[in-house]
Amino acid sequence: MLFVANWKMYGSASQLLAYCERLLPQLEQCPHTVVLCPPYPLLAQAVMLCAGSGAAVGAQNCHWAREGAFTGEVSPFLLAETGASWVIVGHSERRQLFGESDDTAAARAQAAQEAGLNVVFCVGETLAQRQAGETFAVLEKQTALLGKLDPERLVVAYEPVWAIGTGHNATPEQVAEAHAFILGRLEGLTGQGVPVLYGGSVKPQNAGELLSTPGVAGALVGGASLDAASFYAIMQAAPATGAKG
Ligand code: PGA
Repeated sequence: MLFVANWKMYGSASQLLAYCERLLPQLEQCPHTVVLCPPYPLLAQAVMLCAGSGAAVGAQNCHWAREGAFTGEVSPFLLAETGASWVIVGHSERRQLFGESDDTAAARAQAAQEAGLNVVFCVGETLAQRQAGETFAVLEKQTALLGKLDPERLVVAYEPVWAIGTGHNATPEQVAEAHAFILGRLEGLTGQGVPVLYGGSVKPQNAGELLSTPGVAGALVGGASLDAASFYAIMQAAPATGAKG
């Protein structure tokens, strides 16, 4: 299975060092693929610390251009140069707080892949959309441009907005239903299977149930990924069949 730690705008250099000292030795026994996504200024340090370990490093966003007059933005090509090999794109916090649209998210994902990065593309409905019965329509719209991407370097994360950082994870039934929909949609768009992660209040206590749900290929973890012990406990809750990948 795949486990992605989304640190959001948390962490520091000293925290990253302590975290890696604790987590990385444990990954030697771990059958899963692990990606750490700290804030931009910590990427190079993370790459150095993770070298030779089972963990890869990713960013939390990138621009869609190789370079240009885009003050404050970061090129995916520069991210690749730091040694990062993944990037999260289209996170709901980007969509809700920073004006991310389906078009801009797809453009970022495409540029990231051109730079050689693997993409975790986030989708998910708000509570109002779910209550209005619009979940599948929203997921359909958010995934509409993913056929342009290389499915070999693409992972989708289903993150219902109402479950992110709230402590209220989706139920296994809701997850199974949404993942089946996304898997079918991606198969139709790309002609092959694309792994789908679940994200939204994943914790050691609920990870076993969520990760055993059909169609779940791993987790995108926010809050609980900031603590090495709880992130590792989430991985340990994965069903035993989880092969590397
Ligand atoms: P959470 O965040 O695990 O804190 O709910 C998940 C995410 O935002 O990716």
